[in-house]
Amino acid sequence: MGHKINLVSFDESIEVEQDETILEIALEENISFPFGCASGNCGACKSKLILGEVEMRSYSTFALTDDEKSRGIILPCRAEPRSNCSVAIMNFDDALSHPLKHLQGEVVAVEKLTHDIAGVRVKLPEPLEYTSGQFANIAFPGLPAREYSFATPSISNEIEFHIRRMGDKGVSAFVFDEMNVGEPISVHGPLGFAFLRKEETGPIYAVAGGSGIAPIRAILAEAAQKEGANLRPVRLWFGVKTEDDVYLEKELQNLQREWPNFKLDIVLSEPNKSTSRRKGLVTEAIESDLLDIGSAGLDGARVYIAGPPPMVESSRALFVDAGMDASRIHADAFYTQEDKASLNS
Ligand SMILES: Cc1cc2nc3c(=O)[nH]c(=O)nc-3n(C[C@H](O)[C@H](O)[C@H](O)COP(=O)(O)OP(=O)(O)OC[C@H]3O[C@@H](n4cnc5c(N)ncnc54)[C@H](O)[C@@H]3O)c2cc1C
Ligand code: FES
Repeated sequence: MGHKINLVSFDESIEVEQDETILEIALEENISFPFGCASGNCGACKSKLILGEVEMRSYSTFALTDDEKSRGIILPCRAEPRSNCSVAIMNFDDALSHPLKHLQGEVVAVEKLTHDIAGVRVKLPEPLEYTSGQFANIAFPGLPAREYSFATPSISNEIEFHIRRMGDKGVSAFVFDEMNVGEPISVHGPLGFAFLRKEETGPIYAVAGGSGIAPIRAILAEAAQKEGANLRPVRLWFGVKTEDDVYLEKELQNLQREWPNFKLDIVLSEPNKSTSRRKGLVTEAIESDLLDIGSAGLDGARVYIAGPPPMVESSRALFVDAGMDASRIHADAFYTQEDKASLNS
């Protein structure tokens, strides 16, 4: 028998069976519940259990600490109900009210941005509102759905994604190797919680790995549109392997010219020729820079991180160790199906 779950933040109720999670059913019901990994690893769905009982599937204590658990905080992506419940999303004031849409669009441009990243522009039948940093679930005919972050602010009925080819099979290989203009695409979104907190003026620290620059670029562009020359201080670390993986540099340098408070570091982890850029893991650069930034520099700041899961997790840990309040760190780890399966095992 199912249990009635009252989602107080949305003023809606859903019916969830014992072996289902609250998040699964909320999304099935088209409720724009915030989530990231959907596997208990990122903390994006964190919520307060106001009433009732749940049993949590396995999760990382990074996403939910024991202290939070003892205060009745749960991860709805891991929570199976054991009674009727009332659940409120944490920081719901920050959450967004963009309507969740399911739209059928068409690919109107595909551009190779690097040797393994394709820029894909999609035309939709109507505008899709979102805040930069969010993502959508997209699907091509005959292929499974995958999450991709919006690479530009929401401005019209055209959206853009940057898709990195992972392996020889899968959606990203199809996009990079075979897909052409005219391909139909279904877009479900916006989703995600790692979006720009627009109303604030504190510093932004941003970390991107590979195609993780897509949502970070959108976040910075949206902040620049809103704040112009008065833009808040921004520091971006962009980590890639070699010079061949660097892209969007001109655009970022233009931003740097207009925006005196913007500092950009491109860090190469495996430089294949001599370079004047910073070398090593991007997390090593951050660790060393955080010593100079100090806890005073983190005051009132927000951190946005996107890219490969190990980079995202290590970067987040560095900011927390440096004294940053974890609730002000917003991250999208680009989990693959394989990563999600291993988190679930
Ligand atoms: C919130 C979120 C946002 C995301 N945004 C983006 C984005 O903006 N841009 C982007 O490029 N990706 C993004 N991703 C990742 C994306 O959703 C897919 O997981 C990714 O494109 C791989 O899908 P696939 O179908 O090609 O590969 P899968 O079907 O997952 O795997 C296909 C092949 O790749 C191999 N493979 C799997 N994992 C790896 C790995 N880590 N390294 C090497 N090979 C591997 C597999 O063995 C298999 O052969 C995001 C993920 C999340 C959760
Ligand atoms: S921990 Fe629930 S969505 Fe990541």
